[in-house]
Amino acid sequence: MSLKGKVAIVTGGNSGIGRAIVLALAEQGANIVIDYVMNPEATQELEQEVMALGDQAIGVDADVSQVDQLQSLIDMAVQKFGRVDIMVNNAGIETRTSVLETNEAQYDRVMAINLKSAFFGTQLAARQMIKQGGGGRIINISSVHEDWPMPGNTPYCLSKGGMRMLTRTAGVELAPQGILVIGVGPGAVATPINKSTLDDPARLKTLDSAIPEGRLAQPEEIANVVAFLAGDGASYMTATTVFVDGGIMQSSPGL
Ligand code: BGC
Repeated sequence: MSLKGKVAIVTGGNSGIGRAIVLALAEQGANIVIDYVMNPEATQELEQEVMALGDQAIGVDADVSQVDQLQSLIDMAVQKFGRVDIMVNNAGIETRTSVLETNEAQYDRVMAINLKSAFFGTQLAARQMIKQGGGGRIINISSVHEDWPMPGNTPYCLSKGGMRMLTRTAGVELAPQGILVIGVGPGAVATPINKSTLDDPARLKTLDSAIPEGRLAQPEEIANVVAFLAGDGASYMTATTVFVDGGIMQSSPGL
């Protein structure tokens, strides 16, 4: 129970990788603030699962692409649990649109949900951590596509490329305060973001065979790494990205 008594916020916490991160942190003893924008029932169910592990959880309906709502998320954590130790900037979407197709609304939405939220999530969590006396972890859920092009998913790649430099720059700026900032770069994971591929057996087969490990990851395989990075064992890691991709980045273009 390396996170006993710690307080974690997970954005986009009621589905996909976020949901698995909530449970992995709770298994280590953390109390959790679950941010969500859709499906309050899923959030309530997850709160129960966290409580069954012996920890506390609250769901907060906040659109993290809006800075005032991000601030309320932090304020709720402080009000309910007194502090913030771990901020996981996980919320993300993709449009699967190319340079030629992407319109302004798609561009703005992806950048706001994926990158603006991570930037201000980092800023506001760090301000709170400094107010508490310093120390803390900020974990940015990025993608292999922070480095590696995915033709036909351009805004997503741009947002993750921005997250790459957010992690590096904020990691350098905040290290003197004991706040470690680390990116996690998943490859292909069996979550709702990949529904169109999971529902198409031919595409799924092509994707599986492009991955050296031969299959997509389960969300828990990403979340376990996040739980490690949030704990004492990862005390000398900051301003970099850990890829959890079954080797896909070394094999083929994004699929
Ligand atoms: C994207 C998926 C893609 C995977 C591997 C993820 O970050 O969300 O759409 O299949 O990377 O390329």
